[in-house]
Amino acid sequence: METIISTEARALCRVEEIADGGTVGFPPAPGGFSGLVAYRKGEDVKVFVNSCPHIGTPLDWMPDQFMSRDGKYIICATHGAAFAPLTGECLLGPCKGDYLDVVKFEIRDGVIHVPASAGL
Ligand code: FES
Repeated sequence: METIISTEARALCRVEEIADGGTVGFPPAPGGFSGLVAYRKGEDVKVFVNSCPHIGTPLDWMPDQFMSRDGKYIICATHGAAFAPLTGECLLGPCKGDYLDVVKFEIRDGVIHVPASAGL
C-alpha cells in the first residue's frame, strides 16, 4: 500500500470502534482548533473536520452525537444542516451545496491514521 501520510500521523481509533453507520468524534490535536469526526459504513470510512461550513461551529451537540435519528445524515447541531456522510455534501440547510472538509487518512493494521496537522 502506498503511504499517503508521509509526515507525523495521529492515530484516531480502530475501524471497528466506529459502529456500522455511526460516527466517533475526536478532539483537536494539541495546538489545534477543530476536532475531527469519523464515519463508517461497512468497510467505507470517511474522516471530516468537525466544523460546519456555514459558520464554523462544531457539528455535534454532545460528544459523538452527529447523526440524524434515522442514521442517514450528519447533522449540524447549530442550525440543522444535513450532510451526506459518505461525501460531506450539505444537502439541506443554510450551507446547501457546501462540503465538510475531508481529511485524508490511512488505515494501518486496522487503525485510522490522519496527518498530525488535520484539524489545525
Ligand atoms: S453552523 Fe451549521 S448549519 Fe449553521
